[in-house]
Amino acid sequence: MNAFQYKDGHLHAEDVPLEKIANDIGTPCYVYSQTGFEQCWKEFDKAFGNRAHTVRYSVKANSNLAILAVLVKLGAGFGVISGGEIRRVIDAGGNPNEIVFSGVGKSEDEIRLALNYDILCFNIESEAELFRIQEIASRSGKTARVSVRVNPNIDAMTHPHITTGLHQNKFGLPVEDAVRLYERASSMKNIRIHGIATHIGSQITSIEPFLDAVERELDIVDLMAEQNIDLHHLDLGGGLGIQYRDESPPAPAEYAKAICEVLDRRRITKPISIDPGRAIAANSGILLTRIEYIKTGAAKNFAVTDAAMNDLIRPVLYDAWMDIRSVQEYSGHSVKTYDVVGPVCETGDFFGKERKLAIAPGDLLAVHSAGAYGAVMGSNYNSRVRPPEVLVKGNTCNVIRKLETYEQMVANESIPSHLQSSQGS
Ligand code: LLP
Repeated sequence: MNAFQYKDGHLHAEDVPLEKIANDIGTPCYVYSQTGFEQCWKEFDKAFGNRAHTVRYSVKANSNLAILAVLVKLGAGFGVISGGEIRRVIDAGGNPNEIVFSGVGKSEDEIRLALNYDILCFNIESEAELFRIQEIASRSGKTARVSVRVNPNIDAMTHPHITTGLHQNKFGLPVEDAVRLYERASSMKNIRIHGIATHIGSQITSIEPFLDAVERELDIVDLMAEQNIDLHHLDLGGGLGIQYRDESPPAPAEYAKAICEVLDRRRITKPISIDPGRAIAANSGILLTRIEYIKTGAAKNFAVTDAAMNDLIRPVLYDAWMDIRSVQEYSGHSVKTYDVVGPVCETGDFFGKERKLAIAPGDLLAVHSAGAYGAVMGSNYNSRVRPPEVLVKGNTCNVIRKLETYEQMVANESIPSHLQSSQGS
């Protein structure tokens, strides 16, 4: 299902015209389709059929509380990376026992928080982290379930910033170290070994790296079984890519089928989990923006939008191509080639280059596939307030994050007394 489609020449989010959202709520604005999130999650869930499995939504892709609540309702598990994400899942009504906590820098406070909630599992990324968790768990008389995150040294063939499964990346442990860590963990009083985890990268568009990673995980499962250490649960990570332009990533069904074939060949019936983020969120959201100016330069035409790189940083950060469409399908303007840019004072402030568009000032544009790693990576750069977020279901539309105010943006800042202006005194 494509949640964002033209009807009568106007782009809609489900049944709501984007013009209506722009007029009622303003721009820039993130617009999400609830049905989009639901269908994408269900597609993964269905793909694994009767095999014992959990589809954990990777919270980092889009952590708005309402989005998490949609996934809670579906029965999703959650993959988190910080104490803040744990709290969001709980606030959205999620079950702590469905949370898996990854990340190389878990702080003492975050570990304490996770133990207090009794989350399902910590994915351990270093020996020091295991010791820290054991110590904190022992002080509070708790038991931590852990998986070791293995770094299988597999090239996921994606952008270098989002490759995580190579030895030069900071994530996980090489196989030999992982084996040693399991041995250590097995004798720790407050640690219970849960399983094994891996996550080799993001926006992966071919199946082979996933299958290589599963095989490596299973090799370790076998190795540990010889030492009577049962790795009960297989966490296969996230990372399945989506189509932004002309990529042809495997569909969830194809991805699941290939993984299940490996598991069957190796006679594995253990419960598995995956934690996709992008493949659930990206195409369930757009960034809606209005053209402030059309500027004809010496070498190029620029469409200057009211959204900027602080709202959506993917194009400049990852060289990411994201589709940009006019909300009005047939505008009557002539088609020209534009760089679509924002108001921030950086040459990197662009959403797309050399795009053919039929547009005029005041027109609305939709930046597609912005439901993942869009709003969550936003900032206040150039003292721009964060945009509102809206969730559409059918013909209903709810604001799920209000437009930030100037006062909220500066609320935690203060001027020390010696710098305060003496004006008026
Ligand atoms: N699990 C772990 C341990 C992760 O680190 C990640 C993503 C995921 C799952 C979800 O991966 P996904 O299914 O979304 O590919 N900001 C970048 C993407 C960073 C991904 C970081 N880790 C972007 O906009 O492309």
